[in-house]
Amino acid sequence: MSRRPAAHKSAGEGTAAFTVQNARLADVSFLTQQVLLGVKLAVFGSQLAHPFHLLQLVRQCCFGILGNYPVLRWFSGGRRFLVAKDGEATVGAMLVRWGRGAEKYRVLIEYLVVEAGRRRGGAGSGLVRHLIALRSRPEAILAACSPNAKGMMTMLGRLGFKRKRRAEATTDLVAPFLFELRLEASRTRDAAASARKPGGAKPPASPASAA
Ligand SMILES: CC(C)(COP(=O)(O)OP(=O)(O)OC[C@H]1O[C@@H](n2cnc3c(N)ncnc32)[C@H](O)[C@@H]1OP(=O)(O)O)[C@@H](O)C(=O)NCCC(=O)NCCS
Repeated sequence: MSRRPAAHKSAGEGTAAFTVQNARLADVSFLTQQVLLGVKLAVFGSQLAHPFHLLQLVRQCCFGILGNYPVLRWFSGGRRFLVAKDGEATVGAMLVRWGRGAEKYRVLIEYLVVEAGRRRGGAGSGLVRHLIALRSRPEAILAACSPNAKGMMTMLGRLGFKRKRRAEATTDLVAPFLFELRLEASRTRDAAASARKPGGAKPPASPASAA
């Protein structure tokens, strides 16, 4: 993924615009605080408030930051941590994890949260659209979601996600609903296919490394 931030015009009230950027260490506290607020509202599972899970979340965020740097991506466990910024202020955050092996073209949205005062401004869907627009676009984007997260479900539905029967363990967390957006094969797969032909272009090592 390009380090240049992608600009997304706000879709909600007002004229605020925001950019999607790679998260920095300071954004770890933004995500953990927003998750704790979400626990109070039951949009995130109460187990996340346990110190062990909070430490896990901090660890996952740190891996996600490593994953934002191509040279360090090997150590990241496939995680990426992205934020929506309004100027210097972080207004939304998304932690995702790329699958491995046969799942390597699928990406799971583990956490997506927008600051309460900035909701309905397009930041949440802008972060998801950023994933859809990656050069190594995944074939499927999955999102784990609690039944209480009505706004999240409406937003995912508007983006074309369909609810799946939860027949697979895709996340460390207990989130009863799983939504999926299927996308057509990306340019990465096209490049890989042409590289297999004699004289074709060399494909990137993996989708996560090309993103
Ligand atoms: C879910 C969440 C990330 C959405 O982010 P957002 O920036 O507010 O979403 P967007 O502005 O991109 O919304 C796009 C569309 O989704 C729908 N939508 C979003 N939130 C909604 C809500 N609370 N109620 C109804 N529809 C909603 C609307 O159709 C909206 O378009 P509109 O504003 O033009 O009507 C945000 O509400 C949030 O952080 N919620 C708390 C945390 C959470 O539930 N996370 C998911 C846990 S599983």
